[in-house]
Amino acid sequence: MNKVPCVPATAPFTPEQRAWLNGYLAGLFADAAVGEAAAQESSSRVEEGKPLLVMYGSQTGTAEDLARRFARESEKHGCVASVFALNDYENAELTRASRLIVVSSTWGDGDPPENAAAFWTWLDSEAAPRLEHLSYAVLGLGDRNYPDFCGASKKFDARLEQLGARRLVPRGECDVDYEAAAKAWGDGLWPALANEARAPRLVRIERKSSETVGIGFTDLIVSTKSETDRMPDPHYGRTNPFSARLIAHRRLNAPGSAKDTRHFEISLEGSGLRYEVGDALGVMPTNCPVLVEELLAECGFQGEEAVKGPAGNDTSLHEALFRHFAITQPPTSLIQAVAERTRNAELLALLQPDRKSQLDKWLEGRDIVDVFRSGGAAKFTPEEFVGFLRKLQPRLYSISSSPKAHPGEAHLTVAAVRYEALGREKKGVCSCFLADRVVLNQTPVPVFVQVSHGFRLPAEGNTPIIMIGPGTGIAPFRAFLEERRAIGARGCNWLFFGDQCEAWDYLYREELEAMLAEGALRRLDTAFSRDQKEKIYVQHRMLEIAGEFWRWLEDGAHVYVCGDARRMAKDVDAALHAVIQKAGDKSIEQAAEYVQRLKTANRYQRDVY
Ligand SMILES: Cc1cc2nc3c(=O)[nH]c(=O)nc-3n(C[C@H](O)[C@H](O)[C@H](O)COP(=O)(O)OP(=O)(O)OC[C@H]3O[C@@H](n4cnc5c(N)ncnc54)[C@H](O)[C@@H]3O)c2cc1C
Ligand SMILES: Cc1cc2nc3c(=O)[nH]c(=O)nc-3n(C[C@H](O)[C@H](O)[C@H](O)COP(=O)(O)O)c2cc1C
Repeated sequence: MNKVPCVPATAPFTPEQRAWLNGYLAGLFADAAVGEAAAQESSSRVEEGKPLLVMYGSQTGTAEDLARRFARESEKHGCVASVFALNDYENAELTRASRLIVVSSTWGDGDPPENAAAFWTWLDSEAAPRLEHLSYAVLGLGDRNYPDFCGASKKFDARLEQLGARRLVPRGECDVDYEAAAKAWGDGLWPALANEARAPRLVRIERKSSETVGIGFTDLIVSTKSETDRMPDPHYGRTNPFSARLIAHRRLNAPGSAKDTRHFEISLEGSGLRYEVGDALGVMPTNCPVLVEELLAECGFQGEEAVKGPAGNDTSLHEALFRHFAITQPPTSLIQAVAERTRNAELLALLQPDRKSQLDKWLEGRDIVDVFRSGGAAKFTPEEFVGFLRKLQPRLYSISSSPKAHPGEAHLTVAAVRYEALGREKKGVCSCFLADRVVLNQTPVPVFVQVSHGFRLPAEGNTPIIMIGPGTGIAPFRAFLEERRAIGARGCNWLFFGDQCEAWDYLYREELEAMLAEGALRRLDTAFSRDQKEKIYVQHRMLEIAGEFWRWLEDGAHVYVCGDARRMAKDVDAALHAVIQKAGDKSIEQAAEYVQRLKTANRYQRDVY
C-alpha cells in the first residue's frame, strides 16, 4: 500500500513548518507513488491518466456546472478528473494533488461563495501548507456591475501563487455572459496541461481504511471517488427552460403597505422537473414592453430593423430588446461609446479609471434610457447598439413550497422591485414580469430548477432547526416547514421572521400561526421594524433571547439564514457571535471558533442574495 509520510502533530515544529513539510513530502511522495503504482499497472485498482482536481466555489450553480464541464472535457485531454466543492478540500486531498483547476464565482462584496468560504479561511491562514508540488489554474465568474469584479478568484489565484503553486495559465474572468470567455480560457488551458513538465500520474486508487503504519504515516489517497456524475443533467435547464404555467398568484402585503410581495404558484406538470426544499427556481423573464418602446424612441429606431440576437440568430430589433438583451442596467462599454460620440465632458470625466466610485454613484437608479437622456443624442446603428448589450439573464427565486405538500408545483415568494429614479418609474425586470404581466394559465413562464448544494434540511428529522428569514427570506423556510410536516419529522422548528409593519407585512401569517398552534413550529419570533420608534430587526430578537438560542445550539440545532446579503446576513452573523459570547460565556475568539465549527459541520447555512 502507498504511504505518504506526514509530520506528526507532536513533532517539534510550528504549525507553519509542519504544514510546509507535509506539502513538500506530499509532492515528493506523489512522484514516488506514481512510480510504485506504475509498476502495478496491471492492477485493476489503477487507471492511466493525469489526475486533475477540479474544485468550485458556487452559490447558484453556474461555476459548479462549468467545473463539471471542464472535468468532462479534461478527460479528452488525457486527464482523469475529480470534482469537489472548495470547502471539501480535506476530502479532496488538496495537499496531495498535483494539478488543480479552481472555478469560482464571487458573492457579497467580492467574497467567495458559501461553499468556498471555509476553504478560503483555511487557505488564507497560517495553517495553509506550501503547495510547490501543485500546478493550478483559476477561472473567476462574476458580474461587472459589482465593484469587485471576480474578487474571489483574484484572492484564490494570488494566494495559491504565494504558497508556491505554479500557475499554468493566467487567471480567467467571466462576466454574466460567461460561455465564450470560459471556452476561450479552457482552450488555453488544455495545451498548458499537456505541456506540463511533470510525469503523468496515476489515479483512481481506491480509498483505503486509514490504518496507520508507524508514527506519522497516513494512507495515500491519490484520488477519492469523484462527484462528477452525481447530478444527471436534467432535460430542462438554464439554457433550455421549461414553459411553465402560473396557476395561482396573490399579493402577500395588505393594502396600505409600502411593500409589494407576491406569492406565485407555478405548475411543473409535464416537465419532469424535480426539486428538493432548499432549491431555487430560475425564471427567464421578458423585458417590459413599455420600456422597449421608450428605448426605441430614445434611440430613433423603429423596431423592425434586422439585427442578430445573442446567439447570432436573425431577429427584429424589437424582439431582440423584448426577449434577448438586458435593457435596464447600462453596460460601461455603452456609456463609453455614448460619451465619446457626444463628447460629453461630465461622462468622459466619470469614465476615468480613478473615478470608479463616482461613476457607480452616478449610475444608481439610471437605466440605458437615462444614459441617452443625460449623455446627449448619441447615434448608433441598430446592429452597433445591440452589440453593446448583454444577454438577458434568468433570475433565481428560493422555492417556497415542499414538493411533498404540493406535488407538481413550485411556489415562489417574490418582492416586486419598483422605485422612482430620475423622474421615471423603474421596475425590476423579472419580479415585475411575474407580478404585472404573467396572466394565469396563459403566459408561458420559462423556468428551470437550480439545485442547491449547501442549503438543506438536516438528514436527521429529530435535529432541531433555527430559521432566520425576514422579508422574502421566509421563502425556503415555508418549504422547510411544509417538508418537515409532510415527513413527520420530530425535530423542533424555530422561525425568526421580520418585515416593516405587522398589520400589512406579516407574510404567510395565517399559515405560520396555524403551524405554531399545531406544533409544527415550536417557536415563532417576529420583528416589525416600523411598528415602534426605534428600529427592531430579527438580530435584535436573537439577542433578547440569547439564552434560549444558545440552548438550541447546544442541543445540536442547525441554523439557517435567508434573505438580504448586504445588511441582514451580516447583522445576523454578528448577532450569532454575540449570542454565543453572551449566553455561552465565550471570548470573541472562542465564539468565532464555535461559529466556524458550526459551518464545518454544515450547521450554519445561508442562502443570501
Ligand atoms: C439564490 C437566490 C435566491 C433568491 N430568492 C429570492 C426570493 O425568494 N424572493 C425574491 O424576491 N428574490 C429572490 N432573489 C433575488 C432575485 O433573483 C432577483 O434578484 C430580484 O427579484 C430582482 O430581480 P429583478 O429582475 O426584478 O430586478 P432587476 O431588474 O435585476 O433590478 C434589481 C436592481 O435594481 C436596482 N435597484 C433596486 N431598487 C433600487 C432603488 N430603490 N434605487 C436604485 N436602484 C435600485 C439595483 O441595482 C438592483 O440590483 C434570489 C436571488 C438569488 C441569487
Ligand atoms: C448578491 C450577489 C452578490 C454578488 N457579488 C459579486 C461581486 O462582488 N463581484 C462579482 O464579480 N460578481 C458578483 N456577483 C455575481 C455572481 O458572481 C455571478 O452571478 C456568478 O455567475 C454566479 O455564479 P454561481 O452561480 O456559480 O454562484 C454577485 C451576485 C449576487 C446575486
